Amino acid sequence: MGINLGEEFPNFQAPTTIGDIHFHDWMGKSWAILFSHPADFTPVCTTELGRVLKLIPEFKKRNVKVIALSCDDVKSHNDWSKDIQDFSGTSGNFPYPIISDPKRDLAVQLGMLDPAEKDAAGLPLTARAVFIIGPDKKLKLSLLYPATTGRNFDEILRVIDSLQLTATKKVATPEGWVQGGKCMVLPSVKQDELPTLFPKGVEVRAVPSGKSYLRFTEQP
Ligand code: BEZ
Repeated sequence: MGINLGEEFPNFQAPTTIGDIHFHDWMGKSWAILFSHPADFTPVCTTELGRVLKLIPEFKKRNVKVIALSCDDVKSHNDWSKDIQDFSGTSGNFPYPIISDPKRDLAVQLGMLDPAEKDAAGLPLTARAVFIIGPDKKLKLSLLYPATTGRNFDEILRVIDSLQLTATKKVATPEGWVQGGKCMVLPSVKQDELPTLFPKGVEVRAVPSGKSYLRFTEQP
């Protein structure tokens, strides 16, 4: 199972730390990021959820709602949340929900199982999946890391910036791009469209093939 880029993300119903949700209703008109974890009270997961706690203002600035998922039950999530807040030096209400998926229904539906990692009962755990979903409820990006490799949420903010920019402008972002950096004109843009679309100019990098495909422009 799994879901392809551009497909509608399932409107699943699930228990979470803020009660049962229907995913699309919970999203409203926002972007969303759903990120999964192997299990509660595990070290790498604690560092990841803690980093996300600190980045909540950055997600809010980008109109992105955040939701985590781990197989354990809601009581366990609530108990674990206190450790995560303590570890990350934050306090107050835990600012994003955590989905409970004890039977792995969602993990199977969304293609998140890691057969290499099992719980005490021998059930496979969820891997470290990331899904970024647009306000149109379509999947814009997915990542899948094994349990033993923690993610970098600064990179995830960077890709959100790229997704939001390229959703409306005819550019793509090159390797290592960050907000404000030079962008590449999309290969589908024709030469005669350049002055209208990119009034600040387009710089073509000459290459041995003689082809004019490396077209840089200021971030629109
Ligand atoms: C962790 O979060 O540290 C972890 C969880 C499952 C397997 C390996 C590491």
